[in-house]
Amino acid sequence: MALVEAVGVRKSFGHTEVLKGIDLEVERGEVVCLLGPSGAGKSTFLRCVNHLETIDAGRIWVDGVPVGFRSANGKLYELREREAAHQRRDVGMVFQRFNLFPHRTALENVMEGPVQVLGRDRAEVRAEALALLERVGLAEKASSYPAQLSGGQQQRVAIARALAMKPKLMLFDEPTSALDPELVGEVLDVMTSLAREGMTMIVVTHEIGFARSVADRVVFLVDGAVVETGSPADVLDNPRQPRTRQFLAKVL
Ligand SMILES: Nc1ncnc2c1ncn2[C@@H]1O[C@H](COP(=O)(O)OP(=O)(O)OP(=O)(O)O)[C@@H](O)[C@H]1O
Ligand SMILES: [Mg+2]
Repeated sequence: MALVEAVGVRKSFGHTEVLKGIDLEVERGEVVCLLGPSGAGKSTFLRCVNHLETIDAGRIWVDGVPVGFRSANGKLYELREREAAHQRRDVGMVFQRFNLFPHRTALENVMEGPVQVLGRDRAEVRAEALALLERVGLAEKASSYPAQLSGGQQQRVAIARALAMKPKLMLFDEPTSALDPELVGEVLDVMTSLAREGMTMIVVTHEIGFARSVADRVVFLVDGAVVETGSPADVLDNPRQPRTRQFLAKVL
């Protein structure tokens, strides 16, 4: 089974259906970039994968486990919020806005999850957190507070913080779109190396260059439906669908 399997995922807000039957598989170690115009449902879909939204129809499995459910005696039972939070531990998420704790240093931000949520040994977690900060190029900023860091540095701390939970899957929702242009590269570099190390990733992005060089597969979403999917070369350089061509003409 693929690491992520989404089948017929539907989601409405009120009377508006924003996901109209999404099918998507992501293999272990695969990087999938989700592209599409504003309002297409990209963020909503990511939030469904992490069970931050409940879906109305269809099913999503992460590593063989149905998201938002547990099975017992051959039946599926919907998880309560506490159980859902438990399930969410295995999936790292990085958003557009760096959501670091403002009154904690970079190091404390990275340590928070493993210490508070997993109840792990502080000294051990501290050593791992320092190694993660080093990995994202911020070893010397361990004792800085978020306000003392640039947007790109904060976003790299956010990535280190997600990795501290040793996730099976990383979800990125436009992680660079709130950054000044000169800071975008440093965050994409960290994501690129993460991809090369074999992390499974779903990345919502408008960074076509990143999608072209890092994605194994590009999925183009419009109005809550997958319009086109394929290798970056197929979808980005030889789009078949008029809707994809229109979109690419605008962003390229
Ligand atoms: N909590 C909510 N309540 C009501 N409508 C919502 C909610 N969240 C999203 N929507 C609507 O669902 C649709 C899809 O939104 P979504 O944020 O998933 O799009 P997106 O593809 O991520 O767009 P963008 O590129 O602008 O981030 C939009 O029409 C949006 O207004
Ligand atoms: Mg969005």
